[in-house]
Amino acid sequence: MHPTARLAVRSGLPSVRTARLSRFQPSTLPRVVVRFSSSGSHPQYEFIQVTEPRPGVGQITLNRPKSLNALSTPLITELNTALSSLQSSPTTRTILLTGSPRAFAAGADIKEMAPLTFSSAYLTSFIESWSNLTHTLKKPLIAAVSGHALGGGCELALMADILYCTKTANFGQPEIKLGTIPGAGGSQRLTRAVGKAKAMELILTGKSFSGEEAEKWGVAARSFGSWEELMEESLKTAETIAGYSKVAVQAAKEVVNKSQELGLRDGVEFERRVFHALFGSEDQKEGMGAFAEKRRAEWKDR
Ligand code: CAA
Repeated sequence: MHPTARLAVRSGLPSVRTARLSRFQPSTLPRVVVRFSSSGSHPQYEFIQVTEPRPGVGQITLNRPKSLNALSTPLITELNTALSSLQSSPTTRTILLTGSPRAFAAGADIKEMAPLTFSSAYLTSFIESWSNLTHTLKKPLIAAVSGHALGGGCELALMADILYCTKTANFGQPEIKLGTIPGAGGSQRLTRAVGKAKAMELILTGKSFSGEEAEKWGVAARSFGSWEELMEESLKTAETIAGYSKVAVQAAKEVVNKSQELGLRDGVEFERRVFHALFGSEDQKEGMGAFAEKRRAEWKDR
């Protein structure tokens, strides 16, 4: 078991209604940050840091400060490795992805891309590996964005299940200014988030938008006045989700994501099938039993 997992404190709670919110009560828990060292089984990274700031929460911090976290291929490779390791970790239940106060990420690495040719990009499927971030990750991913989130940085943030940001965060798809277009899903995900009219304006002009606008337009779930508040609230949300049944959380993420691909009727039918399937889980029996008995649910993740 990971050292911090042993630190999880199960506090006695007065009623099941509050208990259902989170198994890990933030106020009762020590604020520990674990940096995976060479003595552990976790790989060492050059461009990211992986920590476990709260029980059940794996945090990935993009860490290429001199380039404002420009997303080079080696950085994305490390990010994919870290995500797949957190995905398979039995102690990680939610993942938080962040950068620095100055930059979440200023885009794909322009210096790496500048010399590419059509055939080299096409034959190496340049940028395709970014899709692993969303295609294989079943645990919830929260992006906490401060500073620049431009081009690929904006696209990376848009891949998260929940996006939080500072009010002054600087989002945008400026690729048009470089003689190109978004290449990691921006034209699709931003358009789904803000609608065609706004997406067309943003992508064709390359104009930035603020974190405050991101929240107003539904790109971000919430925006905050400072970096400290952003990180605290992001961790609180991550910890709340980490306190629920893994089975229910994975199913909830799956059905919401299906809404982006299916028509309403098919989507509702898919949701109902998964809802029916959860009656076969032990955690559904535990959750509803605990409610009736006015006690705190003890999830088994089965
Ligand atoms: N790629 C590579 N290096 C980058 C970078 C990027 N996307 N963004 C910033 N950097 C580097 C700068 O070159 C600079 O390095 P040096 O000190 O070696 O010159 C360093 O980071 C600091 O940047 P600035 O001096 O420019 O910092 P600033 O505060 O004056 O400006 C900025 C900040 C407005 C974000 C500016 O750096 C900028 O415009 N960056 C590029 C943003 C961009 O166009 N992103 C889209 C990339 S294309 C893409 O992402 C395609 C896709 O869809 C996948």
